[in-house]
Order: sequence, then structure tokens, then C-alpha cells
Amino acid sequence: MAIFGSVPVLITFSVLSCFLTSPPPLVSATAADRTELATQVCKNTTNFAFCHDAIYSDPRAPDADRYVLSYIAFGKAYSNATDTKDYIASKIKSGGGKPETLLGLKKCLGYYEEAVRVLAEMLGNLDSETFSGLDKLSVEAEGYPRACEKRFGGRSPITTRNDNLIELANICYVVAKLYEYH
Ligand SMILES: *[C@@H]1O[C@H](CO)[C@@H](O)[C@H](O)[C@H]1NC(C)=O
Ligand SMILES: *[C@@H]1O[C@H](CO)[C@@H](O)[C@H](O)[C@H]1NC(C)=O
Repeated sequence: MAIFGSVPVLITFSVLSCFLTSPPPLVSATAADRTELATQVCKNTTNFAFCHDAIYSDPRAPDADRYVLSYIAFGKAYSNATDTKDYIASKIKSGGGKPETLLGLKKCLGYYEEAVRVLAEMLGNLDSETFSGLDKLSVEAEGYPRACEKRFGGRSPITTRNDNLIELANICYVVAKLYEYH
């Protein structure tokens, strides 16, 4: 009985000493850094305005931590890549353009299928909380629209779409870097 009786006293003491010894961490963190993480991330991308528009189109952006931000960025890149993949497929199906354009588009379709695969893997890794390697996968995802554009010597019929995915993948890269512990 004597042993059990002393336990609540000990707990009370540790809770009290906790309050007495540690500074208020939440307050100091908020005061030190008022810039939203999403904005901080966009400042580290190649195109701040593009990033800001893309990320803040999601209502979760202002309060997003790196995990939520990852879902926003990877999700945007994934749906963008999927949409462009479908767009290329429909262009090929309608057979429009010169034979060499058609050939290039077929090549690009393959690249976009790879981009979609990589971005799906990244979203899967978020689900399973596998954070290492997300930066490398982002770089890989960025390589596919670049390869598509290169296939056309920088004058593809989908330059804007390629640029969109290049910049979205760049946002993914900056977000992925947030998981590096220094
Ligand atoms: C921005 O980049 C700097 C320099 O590489 C880095 O120290 C910082 O952690 C980055 N911040 C964000 C939010 O990406
Ligand atoms: C792809 O991303 C760009 C830039 O954020 C946006 O303007 C465009 O609407 C997006 N397309 C899709 C289908 O998400």
C-alpha cells in the first residue's frame, strides 16, 4: 500500500517539474517563424508564383505541415501527369499531325506513363510513411517531361504541359527535402 501510495505523488512531481523547467515550446516556435511552410517551400522552388498558385489552390495549404504538403504537391503532380498522359493518348488516337509528330507523341506517352508510375509510387510511400528516397523519385519524375520535350527539340505540341510537370516535380523535390534530418 505504501508503494502504490507514492506513485501519484511522483507523477504529480514530474508533471510539475516539467512545467517549471521547460520553456513554452509552442509559443516560441510560433513567434520565431510566422511564414507558412507552404510559402517557405515555394521560395525554394524555381518558380515562386507558379508554386504559390498551384499549392494554395488547395485549402489545406496555409496550415499544412510537411506531410500534408507532400500530399498536396505529389497529388497535384500525379493528377497533372495523368491528365497529360490521357491527353497524349487521345491525340495519338485521333491520328492528328505529321508522322514524325505522331512518333514523338508515342514516345512521350511512354515517358508520361513512367512519370505517372513514379508519382503513384511516391504517394504510396507517403501512405506507408517511407520518406527516404522521395527526393530521388522527384528528380526521376521531372526527367520524363524533360525527355518528352527533348524528343521534339524543345518544340513539342505539349510544351506548356511539359513545363507544368517539370515545375510541379520541382515542388515535390523541395518538399521531399524537408524529410532530411540535419
Ligand atoms: C530552403 O533552402 C535552404 C537552403 O538549401 C534550406 O536550408 C531550407 O531548409 C529550405 N527551406 C525549405 C522550407 O525548403
Ligand atoms: C496542371 O498544373 C497546372 C499548373 O498548376 C494547372 O494550370 C493545370 O490546370 C493542371 N492541370 C490539371 C489537369 O491538373
